Amino acid sequence: MPSLAGKVAVVTGAGRGIGREHALALAAAGARVVVNDLGGSTAGEGADDAPARQVVDEIRAAGGEAVANFDDVADLHGAENLIAQAIDAFGRLDILVNNAGILRDRMLVNMTEEEWDAVIAVHLKGHFGPTRHAAAHWRERSKAGEEVRARVINTSSPSGLFGNVGQCNYGAAKGGIASLTLIAAQELARYGVTVNCLAPNARTRMTEELFGPTAASDALDPANIAPVVVALCADEAQHITGQVFFVYGGAVNVLRPWQPGELFDRPGRWDADELLEALRARFPDGVAPEGMIPMMARAAGGEVELG
Ligand SMILES: NC(=O)c1ccc[n+]([C@@H]2O[C@H](COP(=O)([O-])OP(=O)(O)OC[C@H]3O[C@@H](n4cnc5c(N)ncnc54)[C@H](O)[C@@H]3O)[C@@H](O)[C@H]2O)c1
Repeated sequence: MPSLAGKVAVVTGAGRGIGREHALALAAAGARVVVNDLGGSTAGEGADDAPARQVVDEIRAAGGEAVANFDDVADLHGAENLIAQAIDAFGRLDILVNNAGILRDRMLVNMTEEEWDAVIAVHLKGHFGPTRHAAAHWRERSKAGEEVRARVINTSSPSGLFGNVGQCNYGAAKGGIASLTLIAAQELARYGVTVNCLAPNARTRMTEELFGPTAASDALDPANIAPVVVALCADEAQHITGQVFFVYGGAVNVLRPWQPGELFDRPGRWDADELLEALRARFPDGVAPEGMIPMMARAAGGEVELG
């Protein structure tokens, strides 16, 4: 394991699940850790200090250094306080793992404003706030002439990158986090900060219904994700940035961002009829994610004419 001795890490949502494993692994690698967790339900209701405190106790019992923080990462002042606590407690910050998350799954047609806002706030704003305040700390150190080697690790999801029915709020936030990763990597490279993102699959309280009971040798053990975080936080990973990694069991798969596909190009402006003709010529069987064309044809009473 690479040594992270001397480094200070903040892990959001580290009281349970995947974030807890990140915090334990970072501490085992020698980092001093701020264990953030609001402690609410999977839906983001309520608050409880116990999960963050328990992880701090575990780290200390194993000989590591950690402090607990109970701020809500969806609140910009909470995010500011979290970063300030790391600097107050340990004198610096080197690693920020944005991981806290909630779910409010619902079909788009039934989704309420509150369900939409809560999920976007915890995930997307909950990534922006801590990153924004950590970035200010790193910019200050870099401008003072220090050679900064800082890390941000974000948490997206296959749902946000490939789509998943019933998760338009969550998927939109997670897709946004992949975009935030790319832009933050572009902006913060000048200060010596790398920004990467994981799209994990693991069995936690968030996914236990989906993934079922624990297997003997478990590809879905949340501890499978943590070594990827430790590796990306090592000094040796200074030239790896702006990447999204799908992580499942022992598989770490680099995901390519949006790529240009077929180009329909003409001098000047397209006429809508002409463009439609060009699209139908190029895609005679239609073009849509798998399984959707028959569904669309059925919904339209088989009246959608192809080709
Ligand atoms: N489990 C999976 O398979 C999976 C798949 C894709 C993405 N993810 C993502 O991984 C991350 C961790 O999820 P998990 O499966 O460990 O879930 P989890 O529910 O076990 O852990 C999430 C933790 O975040 C905390 N949290 C929630 N809102 C918070 C807030 N506003 N401020 C501070 N803490 C808050 C919760 O109290 C909880 O302890 C999430 O971002 C999730 O979306 C998980």
